[in-house]
Amino acid sequence: KTIPSIDFVLNETSYTRLCSTKNILTVNGLFPGPALHVRKGDRLIVNVQNQGNYNVTLHWHGLKQPRNPWSDGPEYVTQCPIKPGANFSYELIFSTEEGTLWWHAHSDWSRATVHGPIIIYPKVGTNYPFPKPDAEFPIVLASWFKGDVMEIIQTALANGGEPKISDAFTINGQPGDLYNCSKPGTFRIMFDFGKTYLLRIINSIMNEEMFFMVADHNLTVVGMDGAYLKPIKTDYIMITPGQTMDVLITANQSLSHYYMAARAYAGVVYDITTTTAIVEYNGNYTSPLAPVFPNLPNYTDINAVTNFTRRLRALASTQHPVDVPKVVDIRLVITLSMNTLPCNSCDNGTRLAASMNNISFMDPKVDILQAYYKQIRGIYKTNFPSVPPYVFNFTADDVPDNVLTPEKDTRVRVLKYNSSVEIVFQGTNVLNGAENHPIHQHGYSFYVVGFGFGNFDNETDPEGFNLVDPPEMNTVGVPTNGWAAIRFKADNPGVWFMHCHLDRHMSWGMDTVLIVKNGTTRLTSMRRAPSHLNPC
Ligand code: C2O
Ligand code: CU
Repeated sequence: KTIPSIDFVLNETSYTRLCSTKNILTVNGLFPGPALHVRKGDRLIVNVQNQGNYNVTLHWHGLKQPRNPWSDGPEYVTQCPIKPGANFSYELIFSTEEGTLWWHAHSDWSRATVHGPIIIYPKVGTNYPFPKPDAEFPIVLASWFKGDVMEIIQTALANGGEPKISDAFTINGQPGDLYNCSKPGTFRIMFDFGKTYLLRIINSIMNEEMFFMVADHNLTVVGMDGAYLKPIKTDYIMITPGQTMDVLITANQSLSHYYMAARAYAGVVYDITTTTAIVEYNGNYTSPLAPVFPNLPNYTDINAVTNFTRRLRALASTQHPVDVPKVVDIRLVITLSMNTLPCNSCDNGTRLAASMNNISFMDPKVDILQAYYKQIRGIYKTNFPSVPPYVFNFTADDVPDNVLTPEKDTRVRVLKYNSSVEIVFQGTNVLNGAENHPIHQHGYSFYVVGFGFGNFDNETDPEGFNLVDPPEMNTVGVPTNGWAAIRFKADNPGVWFMHCHLDRHMSWGMDTVLIVKNGTTRLTSMRRAPSHLNPC
């Protein structure tokens, strides 16, 4: 039968926020972009027409796209950009995911304004593993820059320093009441007393992990990254860029207005503003002088981050079983570092860079998928190191000189089909740049079997791994000056990007690619290339 299709037209549209007007790149004129509503097991074709001014690609974040890396989207990894005036059709395959995911541009910094929700309902005849909510609301957190985002990243890369910090965060496109001139537009949702609502929260922010709360209301987290969790009752959540969380909230309070609010957990440099939206009760309620404001954790409250994250557990039910590899075939240890590289045009002769295992990823000239498929030589190398090339005290203050300057290269790791893989991501304090890195893997979701602070200890830390109900994610926050361990079965052949989802780190090279080889049959091999590929 024919696959349903929709059109995504990219164009520049004028938007006013924070009392200033600018053109932003949008899909169908919308910010945030349109939501996709599908069911598990569906397919959907998205016809993209680029009527904007920049090269662009789109990525379906968290969709595994079984055997179909052709429609995954990262620029120069699985495709050449869709140039202004050009088209491309993506075929989306909804396989095992259920819950909330999102889509976003995957070229330079265009994702700041080009993003939207993907809502995946259970198959007909099946239900949520929790009582059906009375209504649901996508809550999209994003960054707003007064300047042109593409110019901001280009300027930063040219000068070698940090990019300009965003001017506000937004909830569903609006900065909220704390900005006088944006007040009239503040996003609001209406509650009926006694009803339960599902918030589908998406962190589409460019460079910050976020705390999120609704004043005086308990939150029950029931899913993340398109997989279910054991319900967690909490007053706040912590959500990294790339992650999505499904949260139930019951209208059981006695005043008329409450704020929901989000603000950052501190990175090295960050936006310290707070974005708000309003929850309003239908009916006759006492109005407070101002909506009740939530008591968000402090910017630096690393314990608040850990205390929340520690509680995440897979649902692990009969309908939604856990399938974590108990035995591992391939082990990788990958360091995440901030670095510097020589730069002639830069003010002080060096520029900021970032790396995985001391390789700072360079975009190739032809996308890696095409080069792999057509066996074009000289585009990438297959020797991405499986362990850090330099062993040192990763989380200490003093760092040997040879790890300050990474190698600039396009290196990938090739994995045998169906191997059981474990990756330990090790944070480092190189350049005093210890930060929480949200690491995202395309083409897969993985089980987070453990995390901790300091240097990963190969002897003792695996003893604490959770192989019973580890949470399934596509983006894991690797703790500041700590590590996180993931496991997955490499059963999706293709070329899959892996990178930090803080966009400045991605731009600086904290990226690599996993190539998962074909199995021995057609159904365990990559699909054939679509007839139309965009030229680079
Ligand atoms: Cu949400 Cu490679 O990205
Ligand atoms: Cu990072």
